[in-house]
Amino acid sequence: MDFKKNLSELLHQQVKELSIEDIMLAIEIPKNAEMGDFAFPCFKLSKTLRKAPNVIAQDLAGGIELPREFEKVEVAGGYLNFFANKAYFAGLVIKEVIEQKQNYGRNTLGKGKNVIVEFSSPNIAKPFHIGHIRTTVIGNSLYKIYDFLGYNTITINHLGDYGTQFGKLIVAFKAWGNEEEVKANPIPSLLKLYVKFHEEAEENPQLEDEGRLWFKKLEEGDDEALRLWQWFRDVSLEEFNRVYKMLNISFDSLAGESFYSDKMPRVVKMMEEKGILQESKGADIVDLEPYGMPPALIRKSDGSTLYITRDLAAAIYRKEAYDFYKNIYVVGSQQNLHFQQWKKILELMGKEWAEDCIHVSFGLVSLEEGTIATRKGRVVFLEDVLKKAIEKTKEIITDKNPDINNLDEIAADVGIGAVVFQELSNNRIKDYTFSWDKVLNFEGETGPYVQYTHARASSVLRRAEGQITDNFDGSKLTDEVSMAVVKLIQQFPEVILDAQRKNEPSIITRHIIDIAQSFNRFYHDHPILVDDEEVKKARLALVYGVKQVIYTGLYLLGIKAPEKM
Ligand code: ARG
Repeated sequence: MDFKKNLSELLHQQVKELSIEDIMLAIEIPKNAEMGDFAFPCFKLSKTLRKAPNVIAQDLAGGIELPREFEKVEVAGGYLNFFANKAYFAGLVIKEVIEQKQNYGRNTLGKGKNVIVEFSSPNIAKPFHIGHIRTTVIGNSLYKIYDFLGYNTITINHLGDYGTQFGKLIVAFKAWGNEEEVKANPIPSLLKLYVKFHEEAEENPQLEDEGRLWFKKLEEGDDEALRLWQWFRDVSLEEFNRVYKMLNISFDSLAGESFYSDKMPRVVKMMEEKGILQESKGADIVDLEPYGMPPALIRKSDGSTLYITRDLAAAIYRKEAYDFYKNIYVVGSQQNLHFQQWKKILELMGKEWAEDCIHVSFGLVSLEEGTIATRKGRVVFLEDVLKKAIEKTKEIITDKNPDINNLDEIAADVGIGAVVFQELSNNRIKDYTFSWDKVLNFEGETGPYVQYTHARASSVLRRAEGQITDNFDGSKLTDEVSMAVVKLIQQFPEVILDAQRKNEPSIITRHIIDIAQSFNRFYHDHPILVDDEEVKKARLALVYGVKQVIYTGLYLLGIKAPEKM
């Protein structure tokens, strides 16, 4: 049952000035149980109704007929505080989880609406490094959240597989490259060639021209250029796929930048027709000065197109191919200006759906001073981070539990889960510094802690096999510690919706940490498999609820929840 919604409908009958949705958004969950379980603030109504908030609260309290799930309502200042009928509330909430299982928190909100989530989008021939982890895990989690809420989701990896840099790479490979070396060690050797190109080009600027020429050839479909480029792309994807496999991520579409190579002339023409293209030193630009932004370069003087041109073509293609309700881009804050310019141009092109294109930005990852990077250069490869986390997990598990079955699988679930969880713990917009210590710390509010709580609940349930029933007595869960758990479980569906509204998976991360903590308090205070059958049934039901919600929460973050660890 959606308590908040029912309460909102009830309030709406008396406050027609606010819609049910407005009321739902306004209702707060007081931190302190003495202030009730749900609170409705009357401050905003004060203006419209021309009455003091506490007077409004008094009036409302007088007129409300409380349904069974509430035992009383109290006025405290400008707030109406609602107190749940604990036994009834606990019974209802936990029964719902037992009935709905994996579907608890699911919703049909998104039915019939197509949502594109574009994420990860690394550049080929470049390392897949720690800087890509955030887009990859935030995007994957958003995809799962939207999917869970009933949207039709389409995941896209907009690979950086086009642009002048590939002309340069072709030149470098032809001059200094070696096929065997690239085959043996694709990304590092391609990176080396790219670096060498730039070193040499400082001495010999003519190389730059050659690079441009080869990109032009690529755009024109030259055989040799295409063959080399395709090969660079294939070997890069092989590397990326190893990491995606570890993270259990796949994409519906790998339409990267190159996919739009033949779709740009049409877009440029559309811009011409709208009269927004201007010539500047032989190149085509869109003047964005009236909007306080630098001009956007659309087509260079040699006719070749740019990153932003491809993004414009991609948005238009996506609208036509998927008729999206929302088109989400999970890309770091370094590209804020790019996406602002791009969106403005779409608006100027008369695309009224531009407002449905959403840049979900996130903070930068920087490397802690002295971070030991792996292989070549100051680059921390994502694959190495995941592997290290798995190794460390193996050590910890074999120490604690030497004869555990399927160690490899569990170590992968926990080690990788730890890295992903930590990435999704902070507000996405915050910058942060990568440190090995932080990533490999499994104490405190971490993924392994939450997974361990799930395994602990699973083990209790295994011991009580066949005794889980929704026919239990909610009045056995009305003590403060049990109620705290019940309330968090009750809030879970709302938490998922909030995470979706804000495109912020960390809201779920924090909520399941809260659940794990409050469950561990419960577990510490209350023996579960007790003689009193009624108490046992109720407590087991609560354990079941916790296990299910943690499982789903981790699932929505893209993390596995092992039964044992
Ligand atoms: N390939 C780009 C990079 O690694 C990110 C692409 C973001 N997506 C987009 N549609 N522009 O920086």
